[in-house]
Formats: sequence, structure tokens, C-alpha cells
Amino acid sequence: MTVLETERLTKQFGGLTAVDEVDLAIEQGEGVSLIGPNGAGKSTFINLVTRRLDPSYGEILFKGDSIVGMEPHQVVQLGMSKSFQTASIFPELTVEENAVIAALAAEHGSFRFNFFRHENAYPEVTRVADEVLKSVGLYDERESQADSLDYGNKRRLEIGIALAAEPDMLLMDEPTAGMSPEETKSTVELIKEVKRELDLTFLLVEHDMEIVFDISDRIVVLNRGAVIAEGTPEEVQNDPAVQEAYLGGVEE
Ligand SMILES: Nc1ncnc2c1ncn2[C@@H]1O[C@H](COP(=O)(O)OP(=O)(O)OP(=O)(O)O)[C@@H](O)[C@H]1O
Ligand SMILES: [Mg+2]
Repeated sequence: MTVLETERLTKQFGGLTAVDEVDLAIEQGEGVSLIGPNGAGKSTFINLVTRRLDPSYGEILFKGDSIVGMEPHQVVQLGMSKSFQTASIFPELTVEENAVIAALAAEHGSFRFNFFRHENAYPEVTRVADEVLKSVGLYDERESQADSLDYGNKRRLEIGIALAAEPDMLLMDEPTAGMSPEETKSTVELIKEVKRELDLTFLLVEHDMEIVFDISDRIVVLNRGAVIAEGTPEEVQNDPAVQEAYLGGVEE
């Protein structure tokens, strides 16, 4: 199944074309990274897909249906989740309460149907939340106040919050920004683990090439808003157009 598909997706800011007729398809279970130099249009692309920005023209299909014109919360309910949003954590609540709220917020799952009519719905939501906390390694911290977690664990909780909505696809824009090398390593391991365990489909924007090559099934390279290369990590690494975009044509 194709989870996400864009057709000639374009965003112009005045005279600047930030995203230029991008065709992209991501299949169920695929981990795709979007890379490119500063200003290439990566964040703009993510903002179009998550419906924080309206395209100038072009189409966005999520699980086969057009989402152009939808509100951001509607696409979340359809199963698209974005991690690493600032302020996704409620600092004064416990780790578990944060996961429970996230599980409740997305209403596309079957057990959430008629949620308020089921008297044992809370244990069910808690069960989902606890499973997610186990998969991100925070189950033992579930009673802790979210605010008391260290930086690395807060980022793990943010991933947990995104996963608690049981998304069909997870979007991440520079998830390791601001992390220590150690925290970066454990976050990368976590994403790989969760992908394996949950057959997670993701779209990742990341500058660190080591991470990108490690984590991706496929890499899409943007430059000045347009896709200039696409393929496996090996294919992209050896692509002259990519070396040109990154190195300005300087050969090593
Ligand atoms: N709201 C906006 N109004 C006007 N121009 C914008 C806006 N948002 C982005 N741009 C411009 O669009 C282009 C693409 O920006 P974008 O933030 O998508 O790049 P990026 O690939 O995410 O870059 P970075 O790697 O630095 O995060 C840039 O030239 C940027 O200045
Ligand atoms: Mg960006």
C-alpha cells in the first residue's frame, strides 16, 4: 500500500519556489529520508504534507485520499503523526499520563470508537500507552513527572507520544538536533527498533549523513525545491548530482 503520495507538489513564497513539483511515494513499512542543503525545501515539504502550509498547486494523497484542504488535526486523526514538535509534552503530568492523552487524542483506532460509552476504555488506553512506553524504553519511568526526565528521555517520550496515536506514518524533522552524541545514538537505535517492531513507515529530515545512511531504506535528495536524486543509501552516495549539490562540484 502507498501511504503517502505527492504529485507535482509545489510551494511558492512570492518569487521563490521552495518546493518545486515534487513527486514522492512512500510505501507501507518504508523508511525514507529527505535530505538536501540548507534551504532546499525539506521543512516546507513536511509542513505541506502535515497541512501546516497550503500548496500553491499539486496533490497530496494519504492512504489513497487527497488531504489538500484538510486541517492539521484531521490528518493526525487519519494516522499521520509528527514527532519532535516542541510542546508536545505536558511537563506537569506523568510519563504514562502523557502517553494516555496522546492515545486518546487520535481517534482513528478501532477501540476509540464510542470511547466514552465504554466503561473499561481507560484500562484499554492505558494498555496501549504502556506498550508504547515499553517500546521506547520508558516503562520503568511511567510514574515519573515528565518534567523530571533528562533531555534524551524527553525526546524518547516525544517519540512515544507520536507512536501512542498508532500512526500509519511518522514524520520527523531533525529529531536529533541539540542532542549529545550519546543521545543521538540511542535515538537512532530507538527509531530503528521501533521501525522493525511496529513495521513503522517514516519520513525523516536529517542533516547527519551517518544517521541517514544508517536508518533509511530509501533517500530522496532535494535541491532548490526539486528532487535531484533518489535511491538506496548506496545509490545516492555515489550520485554525481548529489555530490555536486553538497560539494559545489568539488571532487574529493
Ligand atoms: N514562510 C516562509 N516565507 C518565505 N520564505 C520561506 C518560508 N519558509 C521557508 N522559506 C524559504 O523557502 C526555502 C526553503 O526553506 P526550508 O525551511 O523548507 O528549507 P530546509 O530544507 O528545511 O532548510 P534547513 O536545512 O536549513 O532546515 C528557503 O529559501 C526559505 O528561506
Ligand atoms: Mg528545515
